[in-house]
Amino acid sequence: MDWGKKNRLSRLIKKDGHCLFLPIDHGYFLGPTSKLEKPSETIKPLLRYCDGIFVTRGVLRSCIDPKIKVPIILRVSGGTSIVGKDLANEGITTSIKEAVRLNVTAVGLSVFVGTEYEHQTLLNLSRLVDEAEEYGIPVMAVTAVGKELEKRDARYLALCCRIAAELGASVVKTYWCENFEKVVEGCPVPVVMAGGPKVDTELQVLEFVYDGMQKGAIGVNLGRNVWQSEHPVAMIKALRAIIHENYTAKEANDLLEKLKKKK
Ligand code: 5RP
Repeated sequence: MDWGKKNRLSRLIKKDGHCLFLPIDHGYFLGPTSKLEKPSETIKPLLRYCDGIFVTRGVLRSCIDPKIKVPIILRVSGGTSIVGKDLANEGITTSIKEAVRLNVTAVGLSVFVGTEYEHQTLLNLSRLVDEAEEYGIPVMAVTAVGKELEKRDARYLALCCRIAAELGASVVKTYWCENFEKVVEGCPVPVVMAGGPKVDTELQVLEFVYDGMQKGAIGVNLGRNVWQSEHPVAMIKALRAIIHENYTAKEANDLLEKLKKKK
């Protein structure tokens, strides 16, 4: 691996081998979704606790201070919306030249395995890796499931993650599921977990993140369950405790409750 790519990855993945990425890219298909109406306000209190933020160029340019120290993962796929025909019909929306101009640390793109657009989105990934490798920019592949959240089982997600790694992704983002070790074991590159739509309790999130870390994930790229929480700062601190300080889910939940009371 060349120096530039190693350097970029080392900025995103910390010395303990773990990472906490905060995605605020959801507007690219969801519009001004709840608690992300003003991305700059959502991100401001959380920024200091992230190891990377996942964002589109529009939000980066208009809502993020260019003096930011936190590494940027630029979302470079899209072209669909929640009210359109099919969320899977994505193309590459942002060039590598633009990614270099924006001085980002990595780029990210979704693949939709098992959909009508599987071939197209997998070739998007291959093309992006070809172009990004020329500049030493790591690619994070997002194994997206569109509206069909029931697809989140180990067999399907292991298939998606392995294919994304085979096509050259440096990091793969997927969903936590039962038997998550099967997903990680079949994937030769690091795996991070997304959260999906907000779940009922914070403890559920802390439990699946803890379980996923025990089973080999290196961290999270987790958005709605942080910034749609009533206590986003307490939540991100509790997640950091699991990811970087070896807290159990129970210990992290105790921390969360303590931080909530302090507020
Ligand atoms: C949206 C994404 C998000 O980055 C990803 O889904 C993580 O966010 P969340 O935890 O809210 O699911 O790729 O397309």
